[in-house]
Amino acid sequence: MNNTAFQALRALSDGAFHSGEDIARTLGITRSAVWYGVREIAGAGFEIESVRGRGYRLKQPVSLLDPASILKLLGAATGRIELEIRETLDSTNTQLMRRAEQGATSGQAIAAESQTAGRGRRGRVWHSRVGSTLVFSLLWRFTRGARELAGLSLATGVALARVLRAAGASEAGLKWPNDVVVDGSKLAGILIEMQGDVLGPSAAVIGIGVNVRPDARVSRAVDQPITDLETVSGLAVDRNELLAGLLRELVLVLDRFSDAGFASLRDEWQALHAQQERRVTLLLPDGAAVKGIARGVADDGALLLETGGGITRHHSGEISLREDGTAT
Ligand code: BTN
Repeated sequence: MNNTAFQALRALSDGAFHSGEDIARTLGITRSAVWYGVREIAGAGFEIESVRGRGYRLKQPVSLLDPASILKLLGAATGRIELEIRETLDSTNTQLMRRAEQGATSGQAIAAESQTAGRGRRGRVWHSRVGSTLVFSLLWRFTRGARELAGLSLATGVALARVLRAAGASEAGLKWPNDVVVDGSKLAGILIEMQGDVLGPSAAVIGIGVNVRPDARVSRAVDQPITDLETVSGLAVDRNELLAGLLRELVLVLDRFSDAGFASLRDEWQALHAQQERRVTLLLPDGAAVKGIARGVADDGALLLETGGGITRHHSGEISLREDGTAT
């Protein structure tokens, strides 16, 4: 969506009628530019009602990201986070990785309405769409080395699950290493990328994508069952509140992780573990499959799998876990 279309979408975001003339005046553009903007919004999948004499209306209001509202809600994280909101960019992770290389400080965060090259784990594409998803990344620096940050992605999962549960996804659980799932369908994902020395200091870019509202275009594009926060909670979600809540919780959890490591969050992770004590199959990068019972995680975040030969430990990476009897 181009900049004019974004501005027109913002003007229409409340779901009320707005005349083309009013929008044109507010945005300082011509009425035909408004018309083209509205056409682009419709092309992006938003349903627009157009009534002669009344103007245009979004059939479903959309909550767009607004830095001022988010900053007001940051509470104890105020001063720890420097937030930038972008309409569109390639990937919030890619951007922050570039900035981290150039020395950006800890606490920088970028959220975007849409990404043109969103990335998921294991080389997958992460699909997002304006208003239906929440995508953002946070840069965090650690004095420890990258080698000691093994449990970071699981710690992040705890923060994410806490916030999504509080927002109404009361059944949200974690699938190792860090997918948030409800009833086997994916609600949110985490992509962590590291920079720095094995022995320290190091930096992590923590990228989070949350499915907020049902979106046929996103569901069609992904190859696994997904769900979204509005569907599972039955509530309308304010993405500004959601983002502020996530940033607040991340600061708490990251401080705890820096002080006491993942070991201090391990019990909570296990209590949230959707596959605890279930029969699972672990697919290894070489195509081999290990079957066993998921017995939780170790202090460094390794998955503990009970196989015929005892408990085996598995580190995240190019492995995928599925529950026996499910298609994911
Ligand atoms: C996964 O479950 O595969 C991880 C998904 C992570 C997606 C987020 S969206 C914000 C950030 N930018 C990206 O390109 N990816 C992460």
